[in-house]
Amino acid sequence: TVIDAAGQVLLPGFVDMHTHLREPGREDTETIESGSAAAALGGYTAVFAMANTSPVADSVVITDHVWRRGQEVGLVDVHPVGAVTVGLEGKQLAEMATMAAGVGRVKMFSDDGHCVHDPLLMRRALEYSSALGVLIAQHAEEPRLTVGAVAHEGPTAARLGLGGWPRSAEESIVARDAILARDAGARVHICHASTAGTVELLKWAKGQGISITAEVTPHHLLLDDSRLETYDGVNRVNPPLRERSDVEALRKALSDGTVDCVGTDHAPHADQDKCCEFSQARPGMLGLETALAIVAQTMVEPGLLDWRGVAKVMSERPAEIVGLPDQGRPIAVGEPANLTLVDPAREWTVRGPELASVANNTPFEAMTFGAKVTATLLRGRPTVLGGQVQR
Ligand code: NCD
Ligand code: ZN
Ligand code: ZN
Ligand code: ZN
Repeated sequence: TVIDAAGQVLLPGFVDMHTHLREPGREDTETIESGSAAAALGGYTAVFAMANTSPVADSVVITDHVWRRGQEVGLVDVHPVGAVTVGLEGKQLAEMATMAAGVGRVKMFSDDGHCVHDPLLMRRALEYSSALGVLIAQHAEEPRLTVGAVAHEGPTAARLGLGGWPRSAEESIVARDAILARDAGARVHICHASTAGTVELLKWAKGQGISITAEVTPHHLLLDDSRLETYDGVNRVNPPLRERSDVEALRKALSDGTVDCVGTDHAPHADQDKCCEFSQARPGMLGLETALAIVAQTMVEPGLLDWRGVAKVMSERPAEIVGLPDQGRPIAVGEPANLTLVDPAREWTVRGPELASVANNTPFEAMTFGAKVTATLLRGRPTVLGGQVQR
């Protein structure tokens, strides 16, 4: 195969620490196969499939299935994320050691969609994780602080009377788990950081030498709460779209390394659960196929990152944080390559039905972007060529 890369940017294959693939349980919205195609088209060579499937990925049976199915599809390495606790309302720690030793080699455990309320349980999880050499990912939500909260967040949400999810619900957990990680000597990763206050807490914690890392989603780099004006459920997401000043703080934090990397939080939902009134909608947005375009627009265009920096936040840092030695780095001569080719001057318009995901509702519908992934190589094999999936 000859790839004409004239005028294009060659990057290490992207690594997404935060992808929801919905298998098992909601294959009507995404499968490991459809999500793998979306990931490859987005330039990814490794994704981490979050644990809030149905049933929850709290046992080696499920985490091994996820890994094996991903290898069978062969478009991207699908690394299973294990649940920290058993079940959604977990009161006890899951068998992390068993999942870590399985075929799927679980490297990260998350409480995504089922936040660990109990600080003692989180302390034990962090202590255990540090002994096992795995990472705990914190979904960064204290759901008890959304109860009775008057504003979802931001002036538009307040005016429209959208309740719940104030910034305190995020920041209090970030502060709590930074301190717990410090005392446990563990590493903690903050999922979808969304507020200026979280950025300040990350600065403080890193300054103390705490092993804390964080990701930001493409949608929190681009969209703000003014999008809620229409009451359209497509804009509903956890954590919510926040204020323009938060967006600015997140962009700056990603450019100076306070926020380490981009995580898509790709979260497909059925049309009937999104194309509805805001308060009826499920939270979550598609993210894999639009991530690079959004990072180019929000970070490269305004000069906050150069392409070297994009390689860092989309590939090197996530690979390093989660421990994937074969991803996110330059390759030695003769070594099979994980690579992503980007056309930095390719205009394209997002059309939901053209996306590879099963669900195809997106808040980016009809938006035009200026950069696009044109080819992806997984261990030397093209998974995408000329913007088309190579099965
Ligand atoms: C996620 C989902 O749908 O699985 N939704 C979301 O809004 N981010 C769960 C989550 O991460 O909260
Ligand atoms: Zn949590
Ligand atoms: Zn989450
Ligand atoms: Zn998520």
